[in-house]
Amino acid sequence: MAIVALVSAKGSPGVTTTALACALSWHRRLILAECDPAGGSVLAGYLGGALDGPRGIGELAVGELRDGNLESAFWSQLVDLDAPRRERLLLPGVVDPAQAGSITPLWQRFADFFTSLERGDPPYDVIVDCGRLQVLGPPWPLLRAASVVLVVTRAQLPDLSGTRAMLRSIERDFAEHRVPPGTLRLLLVGDGHGKSEISKALRMPVIARLPHDPRTAGVLSLGGTVRAGRPLLRAARGLEVPIGTLLERRRARLAWPVSQGVPDAI
Ligand SMILES: Nc1ncnc2c1ncn2[C@@H]1O[C@H](COP(=O)(O)OP(=O)(O)O)[C@@H](O)[C@H]1O
Ligand SMILES: [Mg+2]
Repeated sequence: MAIVALVSAKGSPGVTTTALACALSWHRRLILAECDPAGGSVLAGYLGGALDGPRGIGELAVGELRDGNLESAFWSQLVDLDAPRRERLLLPGVVDPAQAGSITPLWQRFADFFTSLERGDPPYDVIVDCGRLQVLGPPWPLLRAASVVLVVTRAQLPDLSGTRAMLRSIERDFAEHRVPPGTLRLLLVGDGHGKSEISKALRMPVIARLPHDPRTAGVLSLGGTVRAGRPLLRAARGLEVPIGTLLERRRARLAWPVSQGVPDAI
């Protein structure tokens, strides 16, 4: 499946909560990579700080800059969310946002490495929490490398206006960098305007709407036991289907010989 990136425009619409809900409920083998330059929060939140020392993308970046050892160091920096199966792994984000500056030059390296995990043995897909785009050093290379980019937004007007501006800046960047079209989708969180209304106003398809479910979101943010039957988890699990379809279409499009053109149905 490759890289599925989640990003937001402003505020805190629930990027991390959504990414974690997907990581805990999807059926495929995956890694949740916290690449928000503003800092990771799953270790301290959902996992209640449970860990025996620093681990995560910050450590990985230090090692890579010093020894170029990303491939060999990667697996020891992960936390098993589903121990001992190693089917849902977490790459914790930076703890101190000041650390993020040292990672900025490595985003392309991480993007290439995450892409290669799809062809590993066993293969892993990577859900990337890119955080908010309006921060210093946003992980653009990860967004460009993603097979699907989910722009997470609340569905009220003030959120939507910020999201619309951000969509246009992503589209401009993708055009400049020749990113194949069709990777961007809106993902709504909570109540507000209707899906088709938003899709039309923002000129972007809406892949789904996740319910306002403060109880489950609270557990995902602060720790506790998540119940698979809760509305947020059920909706996150449901998201795997349209995303899978999008990825299959994209694969077919990329595999189609250029000389034959792209089939209309894709
Ligand atoms: N679907 C949801 N329903 C209710 N509350 C949510 C939902 N998603 C996130 N939240 C809450 O919103 C706040 C911000 O979520 P978070 O995932 O940290 O946002 P972001 O990563 O975009 O900054 C948290 O308190 C979280 O519990
Ligand atoms: Mg976050």
